[in-house]
Amino acid sequence: TWRLGDFAEETINRIREQVGSDRVICGLSGGVDSSVVAALLARAIGPQLSCILVDNGLLRKDEERAVVEEFSTHFKTDLHVVKGEDRFLAQLAGIVDPQEKRRRIGHEFINCFKEEADKIEDAKYLAQGTLYPDVIESGASADGPADTIKLHHNVGGLPEELGFDLIEPLRDLFKDEVRQLGLQLGLPEEIVWRHPFPGPGLAVRCLGEVTRDKLEMLREADAIVVGEIKAAGLYRSTSQAFAVLLPVQSVGVMGDSRTYDNAVCVRCVNTDDFMTADWSHLPHDLLSRISTRIINEVKGVNRVVYDISSKPPATIEWE
Ligand code: XMP
Repeated sequence: TWRLGDFAEETINRIREQVGSDRVICGLSGGVDSSVVAALLARAIGPQLSCILVDNGLLRKDEERAVVEEFSTHFKTDLHVVKGEDRFLAQLAGIVDPQEKRRRIGHEFINCFKEEADKIEDAKYLAQGTLYPDVIESGASADGPADTIKLHHNVGGLPEELGFDLIEPLRDLFKDEVRQLGLQLGLPEEIVWRHPFPGPGLAVRCLGEVTRDKLEMLREADAIVVGEIKAAGLYRSTSQAFAVLLPVQSVGVMGDSRTYDNAVCVRCVNTDDFMTADWSHLPHDLLSRISTRIINEVKGVNRVVYDISSKPPATIEWE
């Protein structure tokens, strides 16, 4: 049996008072923040909650499954999954510029979300997983360069034009507090400890044009990176670990024949605040297993490289 801490209990009471008998929509992204918001709301006002998960086709392997399972079986919320893969891929066809990719994904996300939200009658509130660092960052970057380095797009960034009143129960919390809260609320470790993932998803890790085939390669390679790091017991001591599909082919040999295939970069960083980061000094035998498995198991990849750049001057993501 779980016991709620004071914060959870007070927040649940506050949500009940604020919402009354109205309906709340909550966007689920697959990440920890939106899952914790949904879990809080499920406890507070269960039957008045509707969740929307936009599957943009750019999620990590098994990411949607875990969240759908949690919120349809455990919390039993009214869950709307928007199958948007085709629409997002159509928007991304032929687009190479990273900012344009982000812009199109953000735009399509809002379209998908809005269409689904319109089907939910009597919704008055929108719940978002805005954290304290987001509050500070958006204030600080209003006229600074921070938000022009990369256009950010989040579930937590739906525009006011949707016409809902906002509920942001995590506004005073840091990430580690959100994780503790998630555990108290009974969310599984798989969701609670998941590394952060950018809103534009695998699109910014699939360099150059995004296609279904490239996403498939990237998704498999990424699952190997994460799986091996977990198996080595290092997932929680690294901040982010993932694969990037490079827009490069190189020559290799396979048996008696020559290959000319894709290269995957493994990116793994340690950071406290994601503003600066050091590349993770992973054990060589782990890197070796990751490389061997990707090359053996992911068709179309014949080379794996490890990113040893720190932030700054490199960023964590490649786009
Ligand atoms: P960079 O690449 O700028 O990333 O060093 C810093 C952190 O932000 C994440 N990131 C995003 N998160 N929407 C998000 O929600 C985005 O558009 C986005 N872009 C980058 C990145 O994964 C890292 O944790």
